[in-house]
Amino acid sequence: MIDDYYEHRIRAVDEVILIPETEPDRQYYFMSKLRELISEKEQEKGGKLTYHVETFGCQMNAKDSEKLAGILSAVGYEEVETEEADMVIYNTCTVRENANTRVYGRIGFLGTLKKKNPDMHIALCGCMMQEEEAVEKIKKSYRFVDIIFGTHNIYQLAELLYRRMNGEERVISLLKDTKLIVEDLPSELKFSFKAGVNIMYGCDNFCTYCIVPYVRGRERSRRPEDIVKECEHLVSRGVREIMLLGQNVNSYGKGLEEQVSFAKLLHMVSEVPGISRIRFMTPHPKDLSDELIEEIAVNKKVCRQVHLPLQCGSSRILQKMNRRYTKEQYLELVDKIRARIPDVSLSTDIMVGFPGETDEDNEETIDVVRKARFISAFTFIYSKRNGTPAAKMDNQLSEEEQNRHFKKLLDAVNEVATEEAQRAEGQIQEVLVEEINQKNGMLTGRLDNGLLVHFDGNADLLGSLQRVLLKECKGFYYIGEVVEKN
Ligand code: 5AD
Ligand code: SF4
Repeated sequence: MIDDYYEHRIRAVDEVILIPETEPDRQYYFMSKLRELISEKEQEKGGKLTYHVETFGCQMNAKDSEKLAGILSAVGYEEVETEEADMVIYNTCTVRENANTRVYGRIGFLGTLKKKNPDMHIALCGCMMQEEEAVEKIKKSYRFVDIIFGTHNIYQLAELLYRRMNGEERVISLLKDTKLIVEDLPSELKFSFKAGVNIMYGCDNFCTYCIVPYVRGRERSRRPEDIVKECEHLVSRGVREIMLLGQNVNSYGKGLEEQVSFAKLLHMVSEVPGISRIRFMTPHPKDLSDELIEEIAVNKKVCRQVHLPLQCGSSRILQKMNRRYTKEQYLELVDKIRARIPDVSLSTDIMVGFPGETDEDNEETIDVVRKARFISAFTFIYSKRNGTPAAKMDNQLSEEEQNRHFKKLLDAVNEVATEEAQRAEGQIQEVLVEEINQKNGMLTGRLDNGLLVHFDGNADLLGSLQRVLLKECKGFYYIGEVVEKN
């Protein structure tokens, strides 16, 4: 359902004669024109046109996909669950090689669908499209792809689709970088009660293994008043939990006319009436401030979970990664956070198999896992990304060595995470009820620390906050029971 506000903006285009040059007015113009084209197509088809957006990768991409879906809904498409649709978008990821491989496999499958439905439109966007090599391959080997765009011009979807529908055979629009932040466009919510909000785009850290700074460009922060306005709007649509999103949220505010720290922003967002929970992704250990720790400690709306990407526990490797902290500094930071926020849960990202990583380096990582006591960890095997400094480093590890390090790490992570999760058994905690489990029909709720609890209950509890007794820890989730409010 499109909001009245956006509906009004699209309808206002009737009086516009020249194509606007400024954004987002320009996109509203194309949305209005697309509505006309799409209603003609509906008559031919004898029903609504359908769309499917498939997201690969991280929370940023998930958020971008909500924006894409918002535009498609606004111009008259109806969402469907599978790729058998009139418009399919793959929002791609390129952080690791296997993300690319998955995308290529599935684009081939789209080609077979298009043979059955020649009117189908296929669009590719996201991080992979910011890589020349990938785009060249798609241009040559997947000629049936209609539209290609990148991370810097997601907002142009209406314009690009209009050009394609209006006769251009193939529309390719890619920007190397941008200073622009275009917002105030319709957006669909995947969940009605929780949503991500971008606070900044891009990354300037240049960790030596990471492709993100090349495909998402330089850091730029949104103005705090725009962020707060978006949060208010989301609350008016029923959202209770907000996840503030940025590649490195500690750098928030740089370059703004009036400098605002991330901690201050967190505080401002928490004052929006109707928000019950706030999360954020992702801080960088090198500059997590005392001010931020203090804000998390005192602000009851901020979840007691800090996701603190470690990547590696060996100071030698951390230096080669350009992470700008040592093992000792990381552990000091963990101690400081735990001292000020005793009930905090820490989670992390860890990567094994970076060039030159020895068994001893791997042991250092495992040592940090045991000392920091992460409740959960995303674990990865280093993947060589062309164009990054690490790709040119000597001593790239063999697959066998990487797998050996990975297995050892995984065993340690699982052991520690299970022990940490077990500590909460028997406690009563608050959950946000998120979905009905397809397999067992139970409700699934998310704890403050991000872990899941399954419990019996009525579907009308979806989207509400409930107090739940954590009866049994099953490793990474719990079986629970709702406790009546008194
Ligand atoms: N290989 C493997 N993992 C990577 N990540 C980033 N770049 C790479 C890479 N080249 C992981 C990091 C980061 C997470 C989002 O993805 O752990 O925190
Ligand atoms: Fe990549 Fe490092 Fe930026 Fe994270 S902080 S996106 S790992 S460069």
